[in-house]
Amino acid sequence: KNNELILAIETSCDETSAAVIKNGEEILSNIVSSQIESHKRFGGVVPEIASRHHVEQITLIIEEAMKEAEVTFQDLSAVAVTEGPGLVGALLIGVNAAKAIAFAHDLPLIGVHHIAGHIYANQLVHKLQFPLLTLVVSGGHTELVYMEKNGSFEIIGETRDDAVGEAYDKVARTLGLPYPGGPHIDKLAHEGKPTYDLPRAWLEQDSFDFSFSGLKSSVINNLHNKKQRGEEVIPEDLAASFQESVIEVLVTKTKKAQEQYRVAQVLLAGGVAANKGLRSELQRVFEPSEVELLIPPLNLCTDNAAMIGAAASIKFKQKKFAAYDLNGNPGLDL
Ligand code: KG4
Ligand code: ZN
Repeated sequence: KNNELILAIETSCDETSAAVIKNGEEILSNIVSSQIESHKRFGGVVPEIASRHHVEQITLIIEEAMKEAEVTFQDLSAVAVTEGPGLVGALLIGVNAAKAIAFAHDLPLIGVHHIAGHIYANQLVHKLQFPLLTLVVSGGHTELVYMEKNGSFEIIGETRDDAVGEAYDKVARTLGLPYPGGPHIDKLAHEGKPTYDLPRAWLEQDSFDFSFSGLKSSVINNLHNKKQRGEEVIPEDLAASFQESVIEVLVTKTKKAQEQYRVAQVLLAGGVAANKGLRSELQRVFEPSEVELLIPPLNLCTDNAAMIGAAASIKFKQKKFAAYDLNGNPGLDL
């Protein structure tokens, strides 16, 4: 086999996805089936519904990914799958599909951490240069990750309560916006002015940790108090104020970490990396400097299997294979 071809599978949350990745950087296919419509009326992801959808979709999605990539199972070098973190029932569908294919076709099996996937999404569009720093912002995670080399992850800061995406979704829900609320708040924020005085959680002076629950509560209290007093609430302005607070803290801490760790590349990763305000503020801060800022295109920011294939390629080269007893691990450490 001249080319390294990895079939990757991702089912950790509400996206059923399969991709074929060539040599760790070229996307031959990346099929994503979203279940958002099914979860919307519940205002969030319902684990049992997610598992059922994955079961229904997984075989079809894998077939489609193989077909679009124009490869057969015999052409593959390995099968990779997200082993955690995520919803256990959802993870298990992907893990079992991957194990079955690996066993049937005698292929190496690779377990991938979901966040490693988000980080390595950047490898599908840019050449990574170590040491580097990644700001990971998703529905379940908010972390600053320092990487000295491929496959080495050091979490130098993380959220102590809500993840950014979670805060976005809860604020959106209070404003009566549909799930997932992040993109709606982002859009509203651009139509308003940050006129509300909301807190910024800087925590201890040297800390790269984050906290968003206080900000979230402050938005919700503002809304309730104004309503009770019969005062008008301008959703656009409230969204703009919330977004300004989030971005100011994220970008300031990322800049500080970049200076302290002296990295030449800063990566953005995770679903909230789709946020227009965050992208442009990071660009404004880093572009005049020597630091190279990498931001994946929108379709590689939200959950997808191509990013899992990119991360798996590193493990493939390091021969870090999983045994057939690989399990879904909802609390897997990076
Ligand atoms: O990475 P992801 O697809 O799933 C997880 O691994 O969690 O991230 C989903 C999160 C949701 O909370 C969603 O509201 C948020 O990313 N999100 C956004 C935007 N687009 C997606 N948050 C803020 N602004 C956006 N434009
Ligand atoms: Zn994710």
